[in-house]
Amino acid sequence: MKHRSGAAVSALAVCAWLTAASGWAQTPSAGKGAHVEKTSYGTTKDGQAVDLYTLTNAKGVVAKVMTYGALLTELHVPDRAGQLADVVLGFKTLQGYEGDHPYFGATVGRVANRIAKGRFRLGGQEYTLAVNNGPNHLHGGLKGFDKRVWKAQTVSAPGGVAVKFTYTSADMEEGYPGALTATVLYTLTNSNELRLDYTAATDKPTIVNLTNHSYFNLAGDGQGTILDHELTIMADRYTPVDDTLIPTGEIASVRGTVMDFNRATPIGARIAEVPGPAPGGYDHNYVLSHGGGVLAMSATARDPKSGRLMEVLTTEPGVQLYTGNFLDGSLTGKAGVAYQKHFGFCLETQHFPDSINQPAFPPVVLQPGRTFKSTTVYRFSAR
Ligand code: GLA
Repeated sequence: MKHRSGAAVSALAVCAWLTAASGWAQTPSAGKGAHVEKTSYGTTKDGQAVDLYTLTNAKGVVAKVMTYGALLTELHVPDRAGQLADVVLGFKTLQGYEGDHPYFGATVGRVANRIAKGRFRLGGQEYTLAVNNGPNHLHGGLKGFDKRVWKAQTVSAPGGVAVKFTYTSADMEEGYPGALTATVLYTLTNSNELRLDYTAATDKPTIVNLTNHSYFNLAGDGQGTILDHELTIMADRYTPVDDTLIPTGEIASVRGTVMDFNRATPIGARIAEVPGPAPGGYDHNYVLSHGGGVLAMSATARDPKSGRLMEVLTTEPGVQLYTGNFLDGSLTGKAGVAYQKHFGFCLETQHFPDSINQPAFPPVVLQPGRTFKSTTVYRFSAR
């Protein structure tokens, strides 16, 4: 099947499937009406074809993920009245995503978040990475996993539909040692969960920290700020940062501070008091109380108007709360609305920033022969 730039043709609608050997068939476990459709999403500037996978579950919830950046472009979930809205920020076209943008919807790697001064030591050797965020390295470098075209394959999933994305990052790509193969399995379940299962394996010792950088607005894309969203984060502690957003190494209590979201609180209630550099807002890593390693409830966010509720479960030890502080109206989204400050928020489940330079933080080193595994679930309901 040929995909040509701009042509959203050659749709391949599959109401679930079995293996190629047995041809296309119904997978009863997917649930009635659940299906995946593959379409072309155009061609990158350097001529690579990009596909879009539209996952629909048995309840009509829709998630769209493309091979460029293994990136979530749309996510339509119901409100109290059953009305669907797209709750993630993004662009209409591939060209938007190929332009300068703050990681909307993307899979971020090889190492999400910051590495101080773009430097680290591993196995007695010093490595130097691109400095692409003030004096620091951010989100995998100049051409991180968010800007790569991944391979994709539909896979069967009990109780839902799924697409698996794979990318192999060459040895020393963006300065990181070891050829690393990463996979992200997106599953949309019939319980309205979007589940992301990550794996990674390397041929040399390296460092890995994978996350998804979706910006959520539970009122709907382009529907104003998220300051009234009620947020909880199950974390008693966080990692304070310096003026360049690098952790100081301290692990501080959130109790009695504007950082505390253990009880549901509107994101905007204390946002003006958050310490830190301009432009202001939350951009901090929380130390999840469950400690990581098991899939556990970590955060919830609810839009009081629509009633849409998102619960976040993760196996990761941390989550970066980022409140879209750098959005300044210069990017226009899918709905034709310019994204202003706080028009979306991210809950980036992750290992802590700059972990490789912080011996007290959970380690991010991956050895050959071991498989990195991580799962995050975004569960949607309304009340
Ligand atoms: C992360 C960082 C933020 C910002 C965004 C992208 O969430 O923590 O400081 O760089 O990515 O704009």
